[in-house]
Amino acid sequence: AENVGIRAIDVYFPSRYVDQTELEQHDGVSAGKYTIGLGQSKMAFCDDREDISSACMTAVQNFMEKYNVSYSDIGRLEVGTETIIDKSKSTKTVLMKLFEESGNFNVEGIDTTNACYGGTSALFNACQWVDSSAWDGRLALVVAGDIAVYSKGAARPSGGMGIACILVGPNAPLALEFPLRGTFMEHIYDFYKPDMSSEFPTVDGPLSVTSYVRAVDHAYAAYLEKLEKIEGIANPSLSDLDYVVFHSPYTKQVVKGFARLAYNDFMRSPESAQFADVQQFKDVGREESYTNKVLEKAFINVSKGMFAQKTEPTLLAARNIGNMYTGSVFFGLASLLSQASFDQLDGKRIALFSYGSGCAASVYSFRVRADTSAIAQTIDLSTRLDSRSKVSPAEFEAIMDLREKTHNALEYEPTGSVDTLFPGTFYLQKVDSMWRRAYGRT
Ligand code: ACO
Repeated sequence: AENVGIRAIDVYFPSRYVDQTELEQHDGVSAGKYTIGLGQSKMAFCDDREDISSACMTAVQNFMEKYNVSYSDIGRLEVGTETIIDKSKSTKTVLMKLFEESGNFNVEGIDTTNACYGGTSALFNACQWVDSSAWDGRLALVVAGDIAVYSKGAARPSGGMGIACILVGPNAPLALEFPLRGTFMEHIYDFYKPDMSSEFPTVDGPLSVTSYVRAVDHAYAAYLEKLEKIEGIANPSLSDLDYVVFHSPYTKQVVKGFARLAYNDFMRSPESAQFADVQQFKDVGREESYTNKVLEKAFINVSKGMFAQKTEPTLLAARNIGNMYTGSVFFGLASLLSQASFDQLDGKRIALFSYGSGCAASVYSFRVRADTSAIAQTIDLSTRLDSRSKVSPAEFEAIMDLREKTHNALEYEPTGSVDTLFPGTFYLQKVDSMWRRAYGRT
């Protein structure tokens, strides 16, 4: 198949959010800590009416309706998520409920899990299927997203919730550059979910931040090596990437990730004119560089102009929703398509940096080869973000407490109001005496 990649994309996020300025006041932290320190404006969340299965059903059903795709056209469905409500039964099998009416049960693919990386792995699987001799000519769907919630404390404002649904096939406007990828994986305990009774992760915040940056270094170096070997580009650098989408735990981390690309370019070519003002960092050791705040600031400064051009347009969803874990990079892509015109995107290379704690990371890229404006119109991102309603921090906290208390409850009927949900949202009706879940749709 030719030009395999992303043919269409849509995103689902809940109708309610908490304002980060109000949350700063409520939490008694200094003004600006969440809004400037983390770079976040709003955080999306859900109550006990939604779980990962209902949210993925919402994303998929809305996608199929908006893009007028038939369930019988799908031959593969991959789910990337780390929001687990069952240790055996996959979210993919729950989504098969939506296929019933079409009579199409011949659908490959299953769930992929490792922190925020599962969506990228799912996308690779789907693209590789279409590109392989196992492909039967049908399309593939990739569903990637999470309910990102943290226990009370420093990490809580870096939560969020969102699910991306992506259609993969040949002749795609965003063609995956198959051989151009760099990956970095290693064993590290930075963010993990060993407590099966809780929805919350166990987090070593500072370690997760340096691990993210280390992964940027290694995955970027491996990607540049491919640009050199496969594309024949001598001295490849950021200038060979037109746009760069990052996994966004919060947007400040993306600013730092981008600055790290510039730092890597500097270490590869310190004599380059753009780096005249940062020569003093040439001899700082790489290990030391991870915690050197002066160096970090200097490279944020040096890369400011490029950041504004290549990455700022990718942050609309992340800043206003929060972390979507596996969905995050695809919300970044959706933001870029919504914020940049097709004239700006035409023929350009969009690179993605996907990071999942634990850790698994890749840099990979797409080439824009056909008009994406119909996709942007369908996602209608900024209008939909603006149509949400704000909830007070006190109510948000009460809802978080409710989720914590009722997580994994047996014979449970949720108490959250169905009226607050966007039209077309699936919701949990009840959990029966055998933990079987029943869903309705608004
Ligand atoms: N005005 C402006 N900036 C402020 C203010 C203020 N009033 N107060 C603090 N800041 C800045 C700090 O200087 C710091 O900036 P820096 O990062 O440039 O040094 C930033 O805000 C964060 O402040 P900290 O005190 O470092 O924050 P804290 O330790 O309380 O929590 C953390 C931050 C660790 C990211 C936490 O939110 C967390 O654990 N989140 C979950 C883990 C995570 O998201 N990791 C990222 C990669 S892994 C993943 O995707 C899950």
